[in-house]
Amino acid sequence: MPEVLMSKPAKISVRDLHKSFGPKVVLDGMSLDVAAGESLVVIGGSGTGKSVLLKHIIGLLRPDSGTVEVDGVAVEKLGNREITDFRRKFGMSFQEGALFDSMTIWQNVAFPLQRLTKMSRKEIDERVKECLDLVHLEGVEEKLPSQLSGGMRRRVGFARAISHRPEILLFDEPTTGLDPVTTALIGEVIVELNDELKTTTVTITHDMESAFRIGDRIAMIHRGRLVASAPPEEFRTLQDPRVQQFIHGRAEGPLSDEPGVRTGTWPGQPKTPGR
Ligand SMILES: Nc1ncnc2c1ncn2[C@@H]1O[C@H](COP(=O)(O)OP(=O)(O)OP(=O)(O)O)[C@@H](O)[C@H]1O
Ligand SMILES: [Mg+2]
Repeated sequence: MPEVLMSKPAKISVRDLHKSFGPKVVLDGMSLDVAAGESLVVIGGSGTGKSVLLKHIIGLLRPDSGTVEVDGVAVEKLGNREITDFRRKFGMSFQEGALFDSMTIWQNVAFPLQRLTKMSRKEIDERVKECLDLVHLEGVEEKLPSQLSGGMRRRVGFARAISHRPEILLFDEPTTGLDPVTTALIGEVIVELNDELKTTTVTITHDMESAFRIGDRIAMIHRGRLVASAPPEEFRTLQDPRVQQFIHGRAEGPLSDEPGVRTGTWPGQPKTPGR
C-alpha cells in the first residue's frame, strides 16, 4: 500500500471473520483493512467468498464470529434502524444486477436520490442524466430493465450505485459481460471517483487488466482467507504460486490441485449461458 494510505485510519476493518452456510465453511478467518480513500481490488476463484465478504461489509449478512468495522463502528452490532442510516454511506452494485424490474431506468437510478437526499425533482433529473451519461447510456430513462441488454443493465446498476455520491463504493464484478471498451470506461469512472471524490472503493473482479488499472492495492482471497495483498506492480511480482497461477490464468497449479476446484468453476466462467 502507498505510504500515504498506510498512515490513514482504516475506513473498513475486517477482523477474523468466519461464516458458514450449513456445513460449508465460506469465510475462514478473513482479515482485511481498507484505508480511507483507497481503491482496493479483490480477486480470487469462483466460490471463494468474495461476494459473501462484501455482503458482510454492508451488513446484509451477519458473521458467525469476528467483526467488520466501518468508521470504527461494528456493523454486526447495528440494529435495524441504525443499519438503514449506516447504508447511506454506501453505493453497491450487485453481481446479479438487482435492478427493480418494474421500475423504469430513471426510477431505478433516481431511487437512492429520492430516498437518501433532499434533492428537488429538477436536481434529481440532472443527476440521473449525469450518471447515465457517465456510463454512456442515453435516452433509456423511460425503458424498463427487461428492454435493455445485459451489459446495459449492468451499467444502469453502476449508475445507480454512484448516484448519491456515497463515501464507500462496493462493486461486485462491475464489468463482467461487458465489451472491452465499456470495461475500460467503467474502470476510468471508478478511478475518477476515487481520485476526485476520495471515495473508498472495493471492487471485485475476475478481469486482471481491470484489477491492475483500478486498484491502489490488489487483495487475493482463497478459501475464505486473505492470501496476498500488494499494490499492482508489486502484486505482479509476488512469488506465491497461487497468485501467479491466478494472474496468468493457468489451468495447472496449486489452485487446481485442491479438492473441488476441478469439478467446479473457474474465474471468469459465465454462470449462466449468455451472461
Ligand atoms: N445465502 C447463502 N446461502 C448459502 N450458501 C451461500 C449463500 N451465499 C453464498 N453461499 C455460498 O458461499 C460460497 C461463496 O460464495 P460467494 O458468492 O461469496 O463466491 P464468490 O467468491 O463471490 O464467487 P464468484 O466469483 O463465482 O462470484 C459459495 O459456495 C456459495 O454457494
Ligand atoms: Mg461473487
